Amino acid sequence: MAIFKKNNNPLTGEITIPSDKSITHRALIFSALLKDKIKIKNISLGQDCLNTLNIFKSLGVKYEFLSKKEIIVDSSKGFNLDKDYTFDCGNSGTTTRLLAGLFSGIEGLNCTLIGDNSLSKRPMKRVIEPLSLMGADIKSNDFKIPLEIKGKKLNPITYKSKIASAQVKSSILLAGLNTNGVTKTFENHLSRNHSELMLEYLKANIKTGKEDEGYFAKIEKSNLKAKDIEIVGDISSAAFFMVAAAIVPNSKILIKNVGINPTRSGILDIFKQSCIKYSLLNKKTVSNEPIADILVEYTSNIKPFIIQGDIVPRLIDEIPILSVLAAYADGKSIIKDASDLRNKESDRIKNMVDALNAFGIKTIEKDDGFEIEGNKKGIISKDITFETHLDHRLAMSYFILSLLNEKNTEILNFDCTNTSFPEFLDLFKDLGYDCGK
Ligand code: S3P
Repeated sequence: MAIFKKNNNPLTGEITIPSDKSITHRALIFSALLKDKIKIKNISLGQDCLNTLNIFKSLGVKYEFLSKKEIIVDSSKGFNLDKDYTFDCGNSGTTTRLLAGLFSGIEGLNCTLIGDNSLSKRPMKRVIEPLSLMGADIKSNDFKIPLEIKGKKLNPITYKSKIASAQVKSSILLAGLNTNGVTKTFENHLSRNHSELMLEYLKANIKTGKEDEGYFAKIEKSNLKAKDIEIVGDISSAAFFMVAAAIVPNSKILIKNVGINPTRSGILDIFKQSCIKYSLLNKKTVSNEPIADILVEYTSNIKPFIIQGDIVPRLIDEIPILSVLAAYADGKSIIKDASDLRNKESDRIKNMVDALNAFGIKTIEKDDGFEIEGNKKGIISKDITFETHLDHRLAMSYFILSLLNEKNTEILNFDCTNTSFPEFLDLFKDLGYDCGK
């Protein structure tokens, strides 16, 4: 539990946010497959990524931390397959779904994937179905964890996913990486392509593009080339600071080295729609991922926005914080085509609708999204308690609401932010957040 008071200062200065969680998971997974030694620079230290690291550690991969964020990964001895494993994926859907794909295709690897309460409620059919079509042996609890996997030789597949999900796509690609033949995934809207970019960077046999059936990624058995990997800043973490700077009067902040991969940077399109003052500086490419410094300024007239269709996977994790932005916009914002939000760490549609209504912002729930009547002047300051449902992105979104609340904002289980962002509050303090003093 934590109680926050109104922040009385503008947010100003420069920060570097932690590295990208999605890319860190992939760096840990691919480096474990290299049978070599490489360095990963700027690794994310959130609990989710540590879960992935710990799983490979139990399998025999060696890790040496050179500093807090720099790590040598030595996978030269391969995996120890002498025993059956139980792997704890914690709160992490990415760990579970990607590793279900990888482990299903490793002959002789017997393991069970388990996790916390929130993970136990999340759907796994989306990966079990395609992996089973490839021949995988996975037992589940009615398509939920625990997943009991007996690794075996799999067959390649061509699979069109019903949902645009990078976890599904990556799970299939990881299984396909170890089969004889071509595995091809299709999706209607392009989901984040970090697996594809990293596979390309490590010289895998991978092709991507668009055909009549949708966006495709095509993989064949490949010898990955050992190369050091540098991880870029996480735009999903930057999003909280970007929105905070846009709504807290007189703020101006620079966020350094943020990944701006187009499959992740839908928030920038929304900032454009909302006429928020921002610019991208120092653009460059790091380990095949585009990055920039993002400068954001307070904007007094925020316009409402619409999120639908192709943009949804490009900002799926930012919808909670963008709905906070919508509360401060002048008019009705609409979010649709986003029903998978109900399957995240919590039901983010229901929980954001409840939270915004409780905060005095009229918000209407729909099956696949919600509508928010933004009204900066109408927001009534009041003592309020938010339930996080152990969902880190909800906890951080509620914190942003607290910045302008004259009264007390209580956030239950606020420390669930450690899943993705242990440094969250410290970085706000670096920007002048006054903790309500
Ligand atoms: C992720 C993909 C997205 C995202 C999640 C991380 C990934 O999930 O919401 O936080 O790293 O592949 P889906 O694939 O379920 O959309």
